[in-house]
Amino acid sequence: MKLFVDTADLAEIERIAGWGVLSGVTTNPTLLSKVDGDADDIYRRVCEVVDGPVSAEVVAVEHEEMIAEGTRLAAIHPNIVGKLPMSAESLEATTRLAADDIRVNMTLCFTAPQALLAAAAGAAFVSPFVGRFDDIGQDGVECLRDVVEVLETSSYDTEVIAASIRTPVHVMEAARMGSDIATIPPKVFDQMLRHPLTTAGIETFTRDYEARQAATKG
Ligand code: G3P
Repeated sequence: MKLFVDTADLAEIERIAGWGVLSGVTTNPTLLSKVDGDADDIYRRVCEVVDGPVSAEVVAVEHEEMIAEGTRLAAIHPNIVGKLPMSAESLEATTRLAADDIRVNMTLCFTAPQALLAAAAGAAFVSPFVGRFDDIGQDGVECLRDVVEVLETSSYDTEVIAASIRTPVHVMEAARMGSDIATIPPKVFDQMLRHPLTTAGIETFTRDYEARQAATKG
């Protein structure tokens, strides 16, 4: 499973990209609202840092306007993917954008039937949300499993991006069920990295090395 980072914070993208683990980036209007700067400049700089798909979300709601916005965003860099929220207007826009070789990430997907529609319209990616289902007391992991199963057994090339990831457990569940991609907030990357036994082990090794060095010198 490929790992994307879900943020518009360039410093965080550079930090995680430095680990050599990133295959792409996803953003949304909420994530952009948390950072300063012109959105197009941010997308451009993200594309310089990460060599992979970078999702930039359209804010238009009518299909012709979505097509115009998606086309404009795609012109920023070849790695830009137009992110469209699941709707009839988005399906129509996706069909036309895909015909022009502009990749679409269909977001705000909560069910397998929605994912199937996105795939049939030609979306390159579909983003089922895990955490937001959990927020309302439903099982987001099971929704993701439905989407993965349905797209796996269909003939579409659409890749599944497990989105709205809140914990390392979500990431592991997505990987186990065969999701193509998980888009992960920086905080969850840090949670995946750390373990108290790793920290304790490094401290012990460092202490024992230093003790031996001191004994050798003495
Ligand atoms: O980028 C879409 C998705 O990952 C948002 O996640 O945490 O706002 O539900 P969240």
